[in-house]
This record gives sequence, C-alpha cells and structure tokens, in this order.
Amino acid sequence: MIIILLGAPGSGKGTQAKMLSSKFNIPHISTGDIFRRNIKENTLLGKKAKMYIDKGQLVPDEVTCEIVDDRINMDDCRNGFILDGFPRTIFQANELENMLQKLQLEINYVLNIVVTNQSVITRISGRRMCNCGQIYHIDRNPTKIDGICDVCGEATYIRDDDQPKTIKTRLQAYHQATKPLEDYYLKKGLLINIDGEPAPKEVFNEVVTVI
Ligand code: AP5
Ligand code: MG
Repeated sequence: MIIILLGAPGSGKGTQAKMLSSKFNIPHISTGDIFRRNIKENTLLGKKAKMYIDKGQLVPDEVTCEIVDDRINMDDCRNGFILDGFPRTIFQANELENMLQKLQLEINYVLNIVVTNQSVITRISGRRMCNCGQIYHIDRNPTKIDGICDVCGEATYIRDDDQPKTIKTRLQAYHQATKPLEDYYLKKGLLINIDGEPAPKEVFNEVVTVI
C-alpha cells in the first residue's frame, strides 16, 4: 500500500504517518526527517538542505527527488510505504509517477490533512521533537516528564525551522507550490480530505476508516 500525506506545515502529517506505519507495518518516509538527520550528521546533503530549510524554503526538486528515489528502491519498501512531505511540487509529483512506474507500483491514497492557519501556528509553536522520531506538543501531547522523551528518555528539542519568521515562509511555500497538488491528485481520483482538527487519535480513526 502506498500512501501520500499532504497538508500544511504542522498539520499532523508526521504524527499520522507514525501511527499508520506501525498499524500497516510499512516504512514512514519523511523527506524532512531525512534532511534533518543529514544536517545533524553534517553530510554534503545536509549542508545543501540546511541553506533552504533554515529559511523555510523548499529544497530544490532534483535534490529531493534523488533521495526519495533511492529510499523507495530499498527492500523494505516492497510492500508499500508512507510518503510524508513528498511530493511537494508538481515537478516532484510527476517524478514520483516515473519512479513508481519503473517499480511497477501505484499510489493507493493521497490523504490531505486539512487544518486552519491558526492551528498550524499553535501546533508548530508548541512542538517538541525527539531524535528517535517521537513528536510532542507542550499542551496537546506533552511528554510525561517535562523535556524528556517518553519512549527513549533523551531530551526533546525545538526544531530550528519552528521560528515565527520561518513558519511564515514555510506557509507561503506551501500555498504556492504544494496546494496545487490537491487539484493534481483530485483529477487522478486519489485525493481524500481528512479533517485534521480533532485530537490525533480521532484523526487517525478517520484515516483508518477511509482506508
Ligand atoms: P517537513 O519536516 O516535512 O516539515 P513540514 O511540512 O513543514 O511539516 P511539519 O513536519 O512541520 O508538520 P507535520 O505536518 O509533520 O506535523 P506534526 O505531526 O509534526 O519539512 C521541513 C523542511 O524540509 C521544509 O520546510 C523544506 O525546506 C524541506 N523539505 C521537506 N520535504 C521537502 C520536499 N519534498 N521538497 C522540498 N523541500 C522539502 O505535528 C505538528 C505539531 O502538532 C506537533 O507538536 C504535534 O504533536 C501536534 N499535533 C499533531 N496532530 C495534532 C492534532 N490532531 N491535534 C493537536 N495537535 C496535533
Ligand atoms: Mg513532519
């Protein structure tokens, strides 16, 4: 099963993708997470991506498409995968079609998580991350012990691009480059809108019902 998660920054793509990945036992592929890992490890890809991510801009299509192509060709993707944050431009969507054609695979669902701009701001400004992949929110989904991940016990942190000025640019990039994908996938009969406002578990129940 191949699932694409569309939605604004902070809409809950990562949160839902994690739950979907454990329920259906397929890998969660987040281009944002791959970039952040590379930035942390100071790789060439990380250095390239950081210049854009820190400003809230999209990383160039060629760079992004290459890492996705490499990732979905790995053995663990044979039974499907969840794409979180990719594609984000029409160019990337067309490239994905080509990649999948070569693998003789097809997209099953494009889930578009719909939230208001206000929710985006509230969610991103209260988000806390852990290196193990867990995502928290200081009010909505807090850690049991303040600042310590429930799962691995490491300290949680605030993402570098979760600053008010950068959030504004990220939202602009979303509206300009990514929103048109709704129409793209609607025309292909793949788009399903999901109300992202309720609590994470309720959103997840809706997603599972739809699937
Ligand atoms: P990326 O990491 O993908 O960031 P994003 O799209 O901005 O999305 P977020 O990760 O911020 O939000 P999310 O939707 O995953 O929400 P989350 O579940 O964390 O990309 C980062 C950057 O990398 C981009 O800006 C770009 O530069 C680059 N990049 C990545 N992919 C690219 C691509 N394809 N092309 C070009 N460049 C690319 O939830 C947010 C918060 O809300 C959390 O605190 C969570 O606990 C809380 N929350 C979640 N669900 C709920 C709920 N239902 N109710 C209440 N709170 C909730
Ligand atoms: Mg995310």
